[in-house]
Amino acid sequence: MSLQEKFDHLKKLNQLAMEGGGKDRIEKQHAQGKLTARERIDLLLDPNSFIELDRLVTHRCTDFDMDKKKFYGDGVVTGYGTINGRLVFVFAQDFTVFGGSLSEAYAKKICKIMDLAAKTGAPVIGLNDSGGARIQEGVLSLAGYAEIFLRNTLYSGVVPQISAIMGPCAGGAVYSPAITDFIVMVKETSYMFVTGPDVIKTVTHEEVTKEKLGGAMTHNEVSGVAHFAAEDEKECLYIIRELLSFIPQNNMEDPPAIPSDDPPDRRDESLNDLIPDQPHKPYDIKEVIKRVVDDGYFFEVQEHFAKNIVVGFARLAGKPVGIVANQPAVLAGCLDINASVKAARFVRFCDAFNIPLLTFVDVPGFLPGTAQEFGGIIKHGAKLLYAYAEATVPKVTVITRKAYGGAYDVMSSKHIRGDINFAYPTAEIAVMGPDGAVNIVFRHELLKADDPEKRKAELVAEYRAKFANPYKAAELGYIDEVIMPEDTRPRVIRAFDMLKTKRDSNPPKKHGNIPL
Ligand code: HXC
Repeated sequence: MSLQEKFDHLKKLNQLAMEGGGKDRIEKQHAQGKLTARERIDLLLDPNSFIELDRLVTHRCTDFDMDKKKFYGDGVVTGYGTINGRLVFVFAQDFTVFGGSLSEAYAKKICKIMDLAAKTGAPVIGLNDSGGARIQEGVLSLAGYAEIFLRNTLYSGVVPQISAIMGPCAGGAVYSPAITDFIVMVKETSYMFVTGPDVIKTVTHEEVTKEKLGGAMTHNEVSGVAHFAAEDEKECLYIIRELLSFIPQNNMEDPPAIPSDDPPDRRDESLNDLIPDQPHKPYDIKEVIKRVVDDGYFFEVQEHFAKNIVVGFARLAGKPVGIVANQPAVLAGCLDINASVKAARFVRFCDAFNIPLLTFVDVPGFLPGTAQEFGGIIKHGAKLLYAYAEATVPKVTVITRKAYGGAYDVMSSKHIRGDINFAYPTAEIAVMGPDGAVNIVFRHELLKADDPEKRKAELVAEYRAKFANPYKAAELGYIDEVIMPEDTRPRVIRAFDMLKTKRDSNPPKKHGNIPL
């Protein structure tokens, strides 16, 4: 072979690899409203930043005539590139090659970039679109999945891992995305389930569509498996870019600052009127958040799930913070199973990646009822308590109104290492609400009273004056300062600035035993 022929040969191989499963299959992919693996990578990464690895890898299967069917790359495109100039590793499953199904060689490609990501301290992004285990490879394919699951687990909390679901994702294959930090699903073209509609029909006689069983809104609204629902693939990839702007490259770095023109000392008088005077009147906590953070920009996570608690990212004086807030507009802001699990996972993510936590509290307590108790609210609520208690990042808390009972303790209270705890003058910090307290403490007196209604109103007023305010907690130092709502932004920014050199740690151990 001449030198020119050698160069041409390489060009030809690369060309073949670029064609994936061929023109027809690419057209089929497009006809379904889906992009190809390479088109997705181009949209995800900074222009021309992608460097592909293992483009010429092929499978080694010989059963079922597979040795006659080989495609360069073997159904997954892997490599590295940049997002906003920062290094990321990416794999994109190519549905045009064997339905994106996972072979031994394919799994090795993914493991290679995961190992590089862990060694270099950079995020891993997986774009999933696959028919699952490559049926022809049998247990080799299952082994490949397990190798990926192992790395998902070992690198959890070391480098951020983000999954996009952009097509089918079924069987045990869902467990790789499930271990990653965030899942973005595309509406109408993606689904995730452990067993599909046909198996369900056979076993339980239930009839259900793929969309209803495991579509984007099912996992965003009902199961809480996913964190974002994108209208289309473009939006899905944009969400990943945006999400990464709040997150450090790895657990040894701080999250990236993006300077803002919003003055750190900006006060907002409209906050003074936002919290209603009546303790049971709902208001939207997201309005409070938006008025406090830089440029009113709040990047919400899991906005469709457990809406009684709000979590997401924002910046204060340019620096990212994770925000957790009870939402009085939904279920009065009660903590229930879903809200506890949602917030606990978010708190643990922020703590793992050095993202300070800002908590807004307006919580009447845990949601009562047999459904909650039978569902294990005890252990699920404990997850949030555990997550806050073990978190060592800077923690600033603002109690806007109610902080009752166990929920007061849970929501980043002083006692579980809240660093700076503020309360508004409207705050009510007590074991329980006035009605409940009076009914219990004064039960006998009320039974004997000439006018029980009148006496109860007096006792409620007395209780409210004595306990339903922030001043007892402030006397005890459990609240560092009672602040005017209008001062929230400057106070919180000063607190985080003071805390920026905070060092705290937990006792040495193999790992804790969070109540799962
Ligand atoms: C090998 C596969 C494949 C697979 C699809 N293909 N899935 N090849 N192994 N798992 C191939 C098809 O033969 C076809 O090849 C091409 O991919 C496109 O598939 P179609 O069926 O034509 O596409 P579509 O109609 O869009 O349906 C997509 C699908 C369906 C719903 C994903 O293909 C499907 O049900 N596949 C099997 C899914 C499955 O049961 N996987 C195993 C799950 S168990 P040609 O050459 O015709 O283009 C599992 C365990 C993981 O994954 C465990 C981890 C622990």
